[in-house]
Amino acid sequence: MLDSTRYILGPHGAALEGEIAAYCGVRYAIGVASGTDALHLALLASGIGPGDEVITTPFTFIATGEAIRYVGAKAVFVDIDPETFNIDPTLIEAAITDRTRAVLPVHLFGQPADLDPIVELCERYGLRLIEDCAQSFGAAYNGKMTGAWGDAGCFSFFPSKNLGCFRDGGMIVTDDEELAERLRMLRNHGSRITYRHEIIGFNSRLDELQAVVLRAKLKRIESYNEARRCNAQCYNSHLADANVVTPVENGKGHHVYHQYTIMTEVRETLQTALNAVGIASAIYYPIPLHRQKAMRCSCAEQSLPVTEAASERVLSLPMYPELTAGQIERICRILVEAF
Ligand SMILES: Cc1ncc(COP(=O)(O)O)c(C=O)c1O
Repeated sequence: MLDSTRYILGPHGAALEGEIAAYCGVRYAIGVASGTDALHLALLASGIGPGDEVITTPFTFIATGEAIRYVGAKAVFVDIDPETFNIDPTLIEAAITDRTRAVLPVHLFGQPADLDPIVELCERYGLRLIEDCAQSFGAAYNGKMTGAWGDAGCFSFFPSKNLGCFRDGGMIVTDDEELAERLRMLRNHGSRITYRHEIIGFNSRLDELQAVVLRAKLKRIESYNEARRCNAQCYNSHLADANVVTPVENGKGHHVYHQYTIMTEVRETLQTALNAVGIASAIYYPIPLHRQKAMRCSCAEQSLPVTEAASERVLSLPMYPELTAGQIERICRILVEAF
């Protein structure tokens, strides 16, 4: 790739797009510069803009909300399911207004959101479905890949993601030819043909070096995700008698454990014990989006009790394919001792 001196929009990126489209079971994939851009451009290409409302989860990374705001739309937050941390589909209908244009579920921590009722609502109300798949590469719901359910599926290749590259990167997958064409223009200065600019676009391309890395890792993604699932089971068995809530699988999804997230009433104690022996842990997410200063809007006073309770109790433990059974056993021993 380096010898070819084609570093942007070359054959590796195009090949990766084909491979990811095939892997997800969709017709088109468009590489972009980050998962945030994937969401932003997918919303823009879907024609969502000022005055529109997009229903989403408040229990997510800020990028989900930022993308909605970038296009000038309003994020409408709906509470989450207490077991899976994903948007609660039973609460979506009540949030639909005549301004609602899209639903944007996030497949948080690698577990697919409950898509059947969401798809049904989107069809019934004529809404776009845009999936935030930043944490769910390789996850499936009822046997179909996340990303393939919506009008667009948005992936992140941030280095720590299930499929990660060596800097920022992202991709949008879709079956919609027109949407794909608009996305290809939007990521490349609004241009189809060099130096002919039909719309105002962006510089948001996935570079060739990242495509090379991603193509190599894509070949191994199934084993990486299987190792994550195996590690989750190992954690589950060691924590079975501990006073924590271990992750709950919803039964319809193939969970790929981007994170292994427990719920505990004594989070600080557990984190301190892990920190003391140099083991990292993290809180995803300490402040839900409807409470974030940057998202300040009419929703700031909104009460979303399940989300708020989760944000006070969640703790994500080390999770990556190379984690060994011995390391997991040690982490769990430290947690149990800390009780
Ligand atoms: C749920 C979610 N959405 C969007 C993003 C944004 O992806 P990126 O960091 O590649 O811009 C992330 C990643 O950090 C994420 O976790």
